[in-house]
Amino acid sequence: MLAAVATAQNAADPLSCLKLMDVPIPAAGSGWTRIRVRASSLNMHDVWTLRGVGHNPENLPIILGGDAAGITDDGREVLVYPIIGDAAAGRGDETLDPNRALLSETIDGAFAEYLAVPDRCLITKPSSLSFEEAACLPVAWSTAYRMLFTQARISAGDRVLVQGAGGGVASAAIALAAAAGAIVYATSRTESKRVYALELGAQEVFEPGARLPERVDAVIETVGEATWAHSLRCLRPGGAVVVAGATSGMNPEAELGRVFYQQLRILGSTGATKQETEAMLALLEVSGIRPRIDRVLPLTRIHEGFRAMINGDTTGKIVIAIPG
Ligand SMILES: NC(=O)c1ccc[n+]([C@@H]2O[C@H](COP(=O)([O-])OP(=O)(O)OC[C@H]3O[C@@H](n4cnc5c(N)ncnc54)[C@H](OP(=O)(O)O)[C@@H]3O)[C@@H](O)[C@H]2O)c1
Repeated sequence: MLAAVATAQNAADPLSCLKLMDVPIPAAGSGWTRIRVRASSLNMHDVWTLRGVGHNPENLPIILGGDAAGITDDGREVLVYPIIGDAAAGRGDETLDPNRALLSETIDGAFAEYLAVPDRCLITKPSSLSFEEAACLPVAWSTAYRMLFTQARISAGDRVLVQGAGGGVASAAIALAAAAGAIVYATSRTESKRVYALELGAQEVFEPGARLPERVDAVIETVGEATWAHSLRCLRPGGAVVVAGATSGMNPEAELGRVFYQQLRILGSTGATKQETEAMLALLEVSGIRPRIDRVLPLTRIHEGFRAMINGDTTGKIVIAIPG
């Protein structure tokens, strides 16, 4: 079968390490299920793996792709819960298992015609979602759901700032927070993505660093160094910044004075539990919100998709579709 495989790591030229190659169709052992992939989607995580950030080189070569939707050998339409972990080892929360891994870190991922996953990773695909839509959700949308509802604990009427509206996690956070009745402010570097944020449900949009009309209860932060100081400045006393990524850099100034004087809460967040992923799907069902798809490409054009993503030339998710 055809697959997109990370064969090496290169910080300066990550896409040179992603090879399209013919590999054997995986078998599913006991307790595992094989899925014919119908759609997967690109995440920054794949690029970090190719750059050599957060991925053990001993686990190469490996098929990339953390997001999958498809059909099991016995005909069930599913999406894949992407965390390979043991909830018991994380005190009931698989994202806190010290040995957890994301699909494509320790087992082959979804940029292929087939993949095999532990049975517990299967989630029934809601019939109202296409395979392409379902493949946008497990990584970015579940992460956004946990940031908002488990970490920041937002409720209707809360004020939320989402930094970097064009991103996969950020755009999901805007849509989910608005669906929950929050007042959402969003920033983005480009006008078209600010318009996109309004379409997703933001009340007002701003250039990065702009003064907001009021201080907010929570900030959803995946941009990192470029927006961190602004995120802290925008919080009300006692407010929370939830951080799940740092695309523009990992080491902003800590501003400890502001943190303790304003009693700010800084909450790290990674992935989501299976239960949170299912709750996110339920929220999509009742609210009718859907992920925006920037483009759908065949597996043979995956490099083109990643180039657009790295250049920030996207509005919404890039989906890889494999015809049924
Ligand atoms: N912890 C987790 O479980 C988890 C899960 C998913 C993703 N992540 C991480 O979260 C980050 C975002 O992931 P994603 O998949 O949403 O990526 P993405 O779709 O490629 O989005 C990139 C984001 O970064 C912003 N950005 C990039 N460079 C910037 C700069 N110099 N100044 C200001 N903004 C900049 C963009 O904002 P605009 O273009 O709108 O300005 C956009 O929001 C990544 O670092 C990823 O690894 C973590």
